[in-house]
Amino acid sequence: MQVVMGIDVGTEGTKVLLLDEKGQIVGQAYQAYSFDSPQSGWTEQDPNVWWQACLSCFQTLWDRGTKPQSIVGIGVAGQMHSSVLLDDQGEVLTKSILWNDTRTKAICDQTLQQVGYTKWQEETCNSLMPGFTLGKILWTKENLPAIYAKIAHILMPKDYIVYRLTGVLSSDVTDASGTGVFDVRHRRFHQDLLHEIGLADSLFPEVHESATIIGTVSKTASEQTRLSQQCQVIAGAADNAAAAVGLGIFSKGQGLLSIGTSGVVLSSLDQPPTKEEAALQNPTLHVFCHAMPNLWYAMGVTLSAGASLKWFREALGSGLSYDDLMEKASKVKPGSDGLLYFPFLTGERTPYNNDQLRSAYLFVHAGHQQGDFARSVIEGVAYSLRESLDIVKKTVRSIDRYAVTGGVVHSPLWLQILADLVGQSLRIPEIAEGAAYGAAMLSGLAVGWWQENFNLLFVDQTESQVVPAQNQDYYQKQYEYYQTYANWINQISVHFG
Ligand code: XUL
Repeated sequence: MQVVMGIDVGTEGTKVLLLDEKGQIVGQAYQAYSFDSPQSGWTEQDPNVWWQACLSCFQTLWDRGTKPQSIVGIGVAGQMHSSVLLDDQGEVLTKSILWNDTRTKAICDQTLQQVGYTKWQEETCNSLMPGFTLGKILWTKENLPAIYAKIAHILMPKDYIVYRLTGVLSSDVTDASGTGVFDVRHRRFHQDLLHEIGLADSLFPEVHESATIIGTVSKTASEQTRLSQQCQVIAGAADNAAAAVGLGIFSKGQGLLSIGTSGVVLSSLDQPPTKEEAALQNPTLHVFCHAMPNLWYAMGVTLSAGASLKWFREALGSGLSYDDLMEKASKVKPGSDGLLYFPFLTGERTPYNNDQLRSAYLFVHAGHQQGDFARSVIEGVAYSLRESLDIVKKTVRSIDRYAVTGGVVHSPLWLQILADLVGQSLRIPEIAEGAAYGAAMLSGLAVGWWQENFNLLFVDQTESQVVPAQNQDYYQKQYEYYQTYANWINQISVHFG
C-alpha cells in the first residue's frame, strides 16, 4: 500500500499523519515540546527541536509497523511567520523568533513610517505586524549585527523541515505571504519594497505554489529517517492554509475557526483586494495567498487562545487536567459570575496590533472560584475570536458555513460558547488533525492522486454540528462589555511596561 505523509510543525508539538489513496488516516504520531519566553512579550524555539520531533514521530510510525518505503509523498505545514536564519552552510544561526513574539513592534512601525502605512497596505494587502517574519529580520539586524551579517538564507519553520528532508531551500506562497513583504496579489516577493528597505531578495528562497514537488528525500535524510530517496516532497503550506484545505475551505462563503495555541478566523477569497480596498481595510486583517492557485484568504488572529488556557492550567490550575478544568467551568453559569478575562499574554494582533497589551482579569470578587476563572478564560478567547470575525466579515461579506479545528474540538463547552457568539451552526469534522491532514492532501494531489475527484474526499468526512442555543443573546451583550473593556485596556496599556 502506498501512503502520503502530512507533517504539522506546531508551536507546542509536531504531528505526523499518513493518508492512504482513499484519503483515510492510516497512522499518526505526535511529539510535544514547549517554547521559551526569556522576556515578557518574547517567544523563541530552537529549530532543531522541530527536526528532532519529526525524527521521533517517524520512529513511532516505524515501530508501529509502517514501512518507510510505502511513503511516496510528503507535505509539511507549520506555524507561520517564525524566523529560521541560516548561514551559508545551511546551519541555524540563532533561535527562531516565533509568530507570537511582539518585540519587533517598534522596528515595524519605523519601517511603515519610512515607506508609508497606506503604501505598505496597498502593495502587500497587509500592514506590517510584529508577528510577521520581516520584523524579526530587521530586529536581528539592529540588535544582533554579528548574526545578521552571517545570514545567507531565511526560511519559515515548515521550510526548514523541507530543507532537512531534501536539502532544497524553498518556500510556498502561503508562508511567503506571512513574511509581510510579499506581493500577495502577484504571488511573489515584493522586489521594490525589499529594495526600499535595503534587504537583498537573495536571502529568501524560491517560492512555489503549495502543492509543487520541490525535490525528493536526500541521501543524508534517508539515512537519518529511513524514508526512501524516491519519496517526493512538496513546498507545503502555512498551518492555517493547510488546515483550511483539509476542511474543504477553498470556496467563497466558507469559514474556519481554529483554536490551537493561537486563535484564528479565516475565510476564502477568490480574488485579492484591489489597492483601493487594501488601503481601506483594517490594518490587523491578514490577507494571504491560499494553498491552492488563484485563491486567497482573509484572517484575524488571537495570539494567546489555547495558550491562555495552557497558561491558566499551569499557573492557576492546581495540577488539574484540561478535562477536569472544563468540567469545573461547565458548572459555572454563562458570564463567569461577572468575571472577564482578556487573552493578551504576549500582546495582541487582531484587532489591536499592540505589543504592550497584557492579559487581565477584571471584576474579581471574593466568591470567585477556580471554575469561574477557567470559564472566563474560554469566554474571553471566544470574544476575542468574535472580534476577528467582525473584521474578517467586512472583507468577505458573508460566511455561510463554519468548520472548526484545533484542540477546541475536544471541548463541547467551548464549542457551544463559540456557536452562541458566531450565531450560526458550526461543523465539527471528525478529523481534528487540521494542518497535518491538509498538508498530506496537498502532497497526495502533487503525486497525482485525487486530481479529478479532490472534492469527493470531503463528501465522506463525518462531522457533527453545534448549533447556537439559548445563551446567544446573553453572549452578544457580554461581548459588547468585553469590547468596551478590551478597548480601555488597549488605551491604558502604554503604562504597563
Ligand atoms: C497566523 C499565526 C498563527 C500561527 C500558529 O498568522 O501567527 O496562527 O500560524 O501556528
